[in-house]
Order: sequence, then C-alpha cells, then structure tokens
Amino acid sequence: MIATVSAPANIAFLKYWGARDLHSATPLHASLSMTLETARATTTLEWREGDASPDDVQIIGGDGVPAPAPPSFALRVRTHLGRMRERCGRHGSFRVATSNNFPTGAGIASSAAGFAALAFGAARLWDVPADGGELSLMARLSGSGSAARSVAGGFVRWPADPSDPRGPAIPVAPADHWDLRDVIAIVDGSPKEHSSLEGHRLAPTSPHFSRRLQLIDGRRAEMERAIADRSFEALAPLVEEEAIELHLIAMSSRPPLFYWKPGTLRVLEAVRSMRARGLPAAATIDAGANVHVICEAAAGEEAAAELERLAEVAMLLRDRVGSGPRLEAGP
Ligand code: DP6
Repeated sequence: MIATVSAPANIAFLKYWGARDLHSATPLHASLSMTLETARATTTLEWREGDASPDDVQIIGGDGVPAPAPPSFALRVRTHLGRMRERCGRHGSFRVATSNNFPTGAGIASSAAGFAALAFGAARLWDVPADGGELSLMARLSGSGSAARSVAGGFVRWPADPSDPRGPAIPVAPADHWDLRDVIAIVDGSPKEHSSLEGHRLAPTSPHFSRRLQLIDGRRAEMERAIADRSFEALAPLVEEEAIELHLIAMSSRPPLFYWKPGTLRVLEAVRSMRARGLPAAATIDAGANVHVICEAAAGEEAAAELERLAEVAMLLRDRVGSGPRLEAGP
C-alpha cells in the first residue's frame, strides 16, 4: 500500500511556548495559527502490513534523489511512526521518503509540515477516519505541537477547548474566509541556535511568563474576533505584540535565548513604517531570526517590493493562507 501526501507549514499568530509535558507536547495555553499553502512537505509512505523490519526513512534532496535520513531525524520519524502504530493498533513497517519545497533553516516550521504529512499519510493508508480531531492527535504524537495544527486548513486553534490541553486542534475559520498573505523575509539562512524544545523547557524560568499566562486567553479571544470580523486593523497589533512577547520571554529566560539578528529589527522597523503609511501589514517571528510579514492580499506585492529593497533581506518567500494536507497519489 503506497500513498503520496503533502502537508503545509503554518505560522502562529498566538505562539505555543512552554509545555505542561514536553514528551506529549501538552501545552500550557492555547495557540492560534494560519495554515500556509505553498510551503509543504511531500511524503511517500509505503505500508507493509505484518512486516517486522524497522521503518526505512529517506530524505529526497533538491536533486530528487532519495538518501538515508540523518540519524537524529530518522529517530524522530521512527518514534512518531511507532506511536501512531500503537495508538491505531497496527502491526507492520513503513518505507518513508520525504522532501520539503522550502529551504530548511528559513524560519518555516519544517517539523510541523513533515509530521502532519506522516499523520495524514498513515491515516489514509490505515483508513482511519480523519475527522473529529484524530488526525491532529496523531500528528501531535510526534512531539511537535505545531504539527497538531498543520493537519487543518485556514485559521486553527490548538487545543480546540483551551481548558483541555490534551485535545486536538480545530479550525476557527476556513481558508476562504480571509485571503491573507505571508511574505517571509529571510535575514539569516543558518539553522537556529536553540531548538523550540529548549525554548519550551526554559519558558517558565522567565519572570514574565506567569503574567503571559494570565493575559493569553484574552489575547486569543481578541484575535479570533479580529479573524471572524476580517479586521486587519484589530489583528495587526495583536500579532506583533504576541511575537514581541514570545521573544521577551525567550530573552529573559535563564539562560536567555536570543534569536534575533540585526536584520530582524530592520524588517520590524520597515513593517511598522508600512503600517504607519496605511499598508495593512504586520510582522511575526517564530523561534528564529526571520520575519513573517502578514498582509491583506491587496498589500502583498507592495510589501514584498519594499522588503526586497532592504539590504538585510537575503531572500523572500511568498505564501498565503492554505487549505491543509492533501493526497497527491494513492488510495
Ligand atoms: C515558536 O514544539 O511545535 O514556532 O517541533 O520545532 O515545530 P517544532 O516546534 P514546536 O514549537 C513551536 C514554537 C513556535 C510557536 C508556534 O508555532 O506556535
């Protein structure tokens, strides 16, 4: 049984940062993201029912040729596949070959896309009903919380019920609700120095973290209202204040984690000046130096042209709100 599937990355408007339990990616508060369309992982999964050999994990490089995955990546994939097998009560082995259509280290959540693709592909091969949040729970077994959101399209809250941290993600609005763009300004192509895992672990050591936990549900409710109303004016300051707060927590953790580079600040400044001139654009940054500039569709090209002129911007990627994973070939 073979299926080729693809799943998108996502960009968090409200960040998952800090976990109740890191192994099971159980968050301390809800997060909210926009699923992307263009940045995707494409994965072919071959399922061999009853076969007891270890899962075979390959990465397809830019030349299209599959090669054995580096050991640390292969281990993460095998662990995820093993947990899904156990959850779904299946016996057999996988042959997996995966590729990303975006540069790694580009500030795009490659693990979210990759693990969402594994969950979607396994569910397809095993005929697991993909509704009711099961896909999200399967993706989250990877340990990547953001993967739990990448299984759905549009604007996604995880967990669906913020008072149940073990619950799945749920879309709060579909992709066609609001045509937002994400212009990703790459100011530093090198891999990030600190993993998200390290960030989650250290978050509670910041003296500002407890205050964040008090404020975060209110901010999420306001963001969801702004999305429901398609009010960019309401959404923009919330998205930026949230991104700054994530980095405030990181920078004030013990030991501190610094992700920003000089180019990060330069892009933040440019986006603020765009907005002051009436261009609907807002900046957000994950655990890295690169900046996602969220725009209304009509503003996307003007924002991109302006960012392209900055000496600090090495590369721009253009993306938009997307509709989630899809079957590319197979059952
Ligand atoms: C800053 O634990 O999901 O992107 O496994 O590296 O994808 P990866 O990270 P994960 O943490 C995500 C941290 C974040 C914010 C977010 O996407 O919510």
